[in-house]
Amino acid sequence: MKVLAIIGSPRPRGNTYRLVRMIEHRLRQQADVEFEYLQLGEADLRPCRGCAVCLERGEQHCPLDDDRAEIEQRLLAADVVILACPVYAMDMPSLIRVFMERFAYCMHRPRFFKQRALLVATTGVAGIRETLGRLAEMSYTGMQIVGRVGVATPSGPATPAECRAISATADRGAALLRKALLSEGYPPPTLFRLIIFRMQQLTFSLTPEEWPADHAYYREKGWFDPGCHFYVDAPINPLKALIARGLQWLMRRGAVRDVQERRSTRARRWWDEQDVNSEG
Ligand SMILES: Cc1cc2nc3c(=O)[nH]c(=O)nc-3n(C[C@H](O)[C@H](O)[C@H](O)COP(=O)(O)O)c2cc1C
Repeated sequence: MKVLAIIGSPRPRGNTYRLVRMIEHRLRQQADVEFEYLQLGEADLRPCRGCAVCLERGEQHCPLDDDRAEIEQRLLAADVVILACPVYAMDMPSLIRVFMERFAYCMHRPRFFKQRALLVATTGVAGIRETLGRLAEMSYTGMQIVGRVGVATPSGPATPAECRAISATADRGAALLRKALLSEGYPPPTLFRLIIFRMQQLTFSLTPEEWPADHAYYREKGWFDPGCHFYVDAPINPLKALIARGLQWLMRRGAVRDVQERRSTRARRWWDEQDVNSEG
């Protein structure tokens, strides 16, 4: 089993890295695992320029020539991903934010279904819950989030109470990973996930011109097929599937009208002219 630990701190040997190493050490005592680290501070992953080419035409057209494609291959090769970062200004640091933005196309075109993810955060005092919550948005790429752990770390020598808290957090992280490694298949999706699937399915089926890469990807995966309820084979609650399908049916007419209105020349011109018309 392969674990890829992504360290989203500019300090490659900082508190976050140390906590992940503690988790690794504990896990190695319980399971046969291969660990690999990706230090975002040392990777060539440049900030998104906002051209949206990856979303519209495909990630292969991204103008940034850096490690993005190689990192995607490393993610796909992993069974488990540890997404780890410190809290900066009550949120995730820009390094890991850049990572998430650069993989935003995978939120349109999810692919990391095999990967189970453990989320890890360290802080001085506060912000753990918020930061772990932001990291959890990576689940839109298909990743199964198997747990979240976070702890306050000392800026200098640790008190006995801090040592206990950090050790307990590492124990919990390792236990969550061990459980994840033993689990097989994709867990039953929640109603929310089924609805998201149906909303994306509806949107991308109607917009081959606006979202050609997404449309082609959904077609290739068979996600437009009438019998397709979700991205992957998973045990699906029939009632939840029915509710998601029903919501899609209810939204269909409005979505069709919306696409037609957006395609009208008037709609295009109005928005493009706002920078010229507005005062200031
Ligand atoms: C720029 C910066 C901003 C920080 N902001 C916060 C914060 O908002 N709240 C907090 O409790 N700790 C904050 N910290 C403390 C770090 O979260 C904490 O020391 C963390 O464990 C550092 O991990 P690292 O060594 O892996 O970078 C901040 C540290 C830095 C360098």
